[in-house]
Amino acid sequence: MSRINTTAHYGSVAKTFHWLTALLILSALALGFIAIRAPYEDSAQLAFKANLFSLHKTIGLAAFFTAILRILWAFTQQRPKLLNGDHTLEALAAEAAHWVLYGAMVLVPLTGWMHHAATTGFAPIWWPFGQSLFFIPKDPILATTLGTLHYVFMILLVLTLLAHVGGAMKHAIIDKDKTLQRMLPGQPLLPQLPAKQPGHTLPAAGALAVWAATLYIGAFSGLFGHDTQAAPTAELAEVSSDWQVQSGTLGISVQQFGADVSGSFADWTADITFDETTTEGKHGEVTVTIAIGSLTLGSVTDQALGTDYLNATGFPTATFTADILPTDSGYIAEGTLSLNGHEVPTSLPFTLELSDQSATMSGALELDRRAFHVGDDMTDESSLAFSVAVTVALEATRTK
Ligand code: HEM
Ligand code: HEM
Repeated sequence: MSRINTTAHYGSVAKTFHWLTALLILSALALGFIAIRAPYEDSAQLAFKANLFSLHKTIGLAAFFTAILRILWAFTQQRPKLLNGDHTLEALAAEAAHWVLYGAMVLVPLTGWMHHAATTGFAPIWWPFGQSLFFIPKDPILATTLGTLHYVFMILLVLTLLAHVGGAMKHAIIDKDKTLQRMLPGQPLLPQLPAKQPGHTLPAAGALAVWAATLYIGAFSGLFGHDTQAAPTAELAEVSSDWQVQSGTLGISVQQFGADVSGSFADWTADITFDETTTEGKHGEVTVTIAIGSLTLGSVTDQALGTDYLNATGFPTATFTADILPTDSGYIAEGTLSLNGHEVPTSLPFTLELSDQSATMSGALELDRRAFHVGDDMTDESSLAFSVAVTVALEATRTK
């Protein structure tokens, strides 16, 4: 059997590529369907789900690179004539389906990859590359759009594949011609192939129109919006204090399945009294109130807000009340953090740059999630580390 295509036969390279991509894509498809529906009630189930997703992504990327090689190879080859090229409508539909499939081979895994790159955490790719893509920022809104595109492109792939396989079956069972056999190993004897063939322009244009419609449905129609924030977000009351926070970030970071997952709370307030000179040994006091539901934590926001973890429904706010004390190198806020219904003594060392009317502070601390009974059934550090890094940075102006 020849390696290259002829006007009548697929060569061995094209056939190997065809069945290899089919195998990889069908495996990724099955894994994706199973992984997304796999329950995650406890740590064993969550670890299993994450492994399914990692395998899904790893095989999906293999499918992507195989598809690129396949397409490059196809450029160097002639296309064998269709056995039923003279059945115009059928032949046009078959060729349009091939074009849609060529697009899907690239775009389904690519949108999955871009979705992965736009989020942090949960189920790393097992290849030693590709956790991030330089042209994709970590952005939850972009991630949602890319996740939706991955989904609608996948649906298009499945529908086209059903038609494609259905067509192959029709050739084999009803037409009883050698179309399917021609894609299998060996070189069947073929009848004279019809001179009339569908050409490339019309089927390619048809496929392009189908892709444009699918892109519109996925990105702009709002039909497939993924609801990423199921938990309610508490409305925080405005605070007016000696110092008014102008801008700031409250970030957290934790290791999940060996990979860093980081995120931040969008909504929190700080009630600060602070004097440069100490009174009774302290500089002042601070009360920070955090709307737990305002957390975005990579692709695991929903899980993190669930009842077993931060429990945004049961305890919509967390509060840190502390005295501000001097230290050798800066300051420390020493007090109590109330989170998930548990109160734990907590210290936040921080530095402060003071000017006349404004202050810039930044601090960091490590919390042990077990003290707050967050993720109690995740007893294994390799699934979810005990230590959670918290970073605070803010700029405030003096109101008094
Ligand atoms: C994800 C899976 C699949 C993809 C992406 C895919 C894609 C394609 C593409 C693009 C072609 C055009 C020929 C080429 O350029 O290589 C083709 C041809 C073909 N495929 Fe598939 N295919 C898949 C699965 C299957 C399956 C499961 C079957 C059979 C049950 C099948 C049967 C065929 C046959 C018989 C041809 C040759 C058509 C002809 O001679 O005109 N394919 N496939
Ligand atoms: C040919 C390759 C691929 C196919 C056929 C495929 C298919 C699927 C399917 C069927 C789902 C479940 C969708 C649902 O039922 O809601 C899914 C989800 C997902 N896939 Fe893929 N996928 C592929 C490649 C990839 C790659 C390469 C990555 C990342 C590197 C990836 C990342 C994801 C992610 C993160 C989800 C979950 C999306 C969400 O939570 O909404 N996929 N994929």
